Amino acid sequence: MSVANNIHKSKVTTHVLQEMKLKGNKIAMLTAYDFSFAKILDSSGIDVILVGDSASNVMAGFSSTLPITLNDMIYHASSVVRGVNRPMVVVDLPFGTYQGNSKEALLSAIRIMKESGANAVKMEGGEEILESVKRIISAGIPVMGHLGLTPQSIHKFGTYIVRATEDGEAAQLRKDALLLEEAGCFSLILEKIPAQLAGEVTKSVRIPVIGIGAGNQVDGQVLVLHDMLGITQDFSPRFLRRYHNLREEIMGSVEAYIKDVKTGDFPNEREQY
Ligand code: KIV
Repeated sequence: MSVANNIHKSKVTTHVLQEMKLKGNKIAMLTAYDFSFAKILDSSGIDVILVGDSASNVMAGFSSTLPITLNDMIYHASSVVRGVNRPMVVVDLPFGTYQGNSKEALLSAIRIMKESGANAVKMEGGEEILESVKRIISAGIPVMGHLGLTPQSIHKFGTYIVRATEDGEAAQLRKDALLLEEAGCFSLILEKIPAQLAGEVTKSVRIPVIGIGAGNQVDGQVLVLHDMLGITQDFSPRFLRRYHNLREEIMGSVEAYIKDVKTGDFPNEREQY
């Protein structure tokens, strides 16, 4: 059993995350989109699994998160849920399923919870989505907010550069964080913003703040699994620490298999009936 598993053996809930913030225990979160990886993450002791709409990029090969559908997210989320016991499973509400109006947002969140068995949803945005956030929370569904670089708005931003470096945007982000906390969000993601601002926001709210490219003064970190394992290679932002070069390892294994098949070495005597 891993060290992480010894800290909290029971199911990670919103209360557990809150307690971790109070005790100063950092929260470790990674994305997963399928049963097999989710099972490995569970055994490794991860606290939270995000079924991110980054599945649109890493699983489906789109160049943005915009095309992925609610049905796609439910498929990925239910696969992940079947693979885990301990971590909390949070699912992104995909683009176009909550921005229209709060009733549509609630129906989308209900479908995710009912059809996937996940524990919470994540939504990008602040003040502009507040009504939807409140309506979803009032139905008993935990919501994780997401501020800073919000990839569903990439066509508005025009680029993936660091957000909230200007005073106006930083002030709006501080305000949005407080509004989301007041609305009842159990946690916030801050993506690609200056570390100092992220630290300030983390101190200003009681709920746990998880960062990605937001420095180390936050309550936890999240990375995209395929990026940190080195399966994807064409994405190398400064904040990404690669723990492995899995692409190279997989290629080596597949090349060896091809060679064994072509030379007739596989299968051998012991590998047949
Ligand atoms: O979709 C995703 O993977 C995310 C993380 C980058 C936070 O939203």
